[in-house]
Amino acid sequence: MKIAIINGPNLNLLGKRETDIYGNQSFEKYMEELKNLFPTVDFHYYQSNVEGELINELQRVGYEYDGIVLNPAGYTHTSVAIGDAIAAIKAPVVEVHISNVHSREHFRHLSHVSGKSAGSIFGLGLKGYELAIRWLTDRK
Ligand code: DQA
Repeated sequence: MKIAIINGPNLNLLGKRETDIYGNQSFEKYMEELKNLFPTVDFHYYQSNVEGELINELQRVGYEYDGIVLNPAGYTHTSVAIGDAIAAIKAPVVEVHISNVHSREHFRHLSHVSGKSAGSIFGLGLKGYELAIRWLTDRK
């Protein structure tokens, strides 16, 4: 089974960035844990700080992969185009946010992604990625 994990802007700084909100672990380190937890899953990890590149990647994997775990980061709240890309592709998308966006600033309460996704997880830290993958693998 092929699962793509796509992270948006500033998530390349996990472990260094606002650690009180996002924790101390880099995503590369967490990826190792995910690979151990799901040894039979064929993972592809992609991160970009550029909106169009995220859309290109969604289109590229969206007809080939069995599922996508997507954290569009700040673009969640602004990008109609990322929402449109999710609606266009075949693979189910699970939206994940490390922090609880609903307990933060008001502008983070709007998501252009939730309504196009199979489901959304927020506020459970990096564990949210594991839970999203668990859902994708169980539904197969
Ligand atoms: C985030 C929440 C977003 O509001 C923020 O812009 C991020 C990270 C999260 O994972 O909690 O960059 O998506």
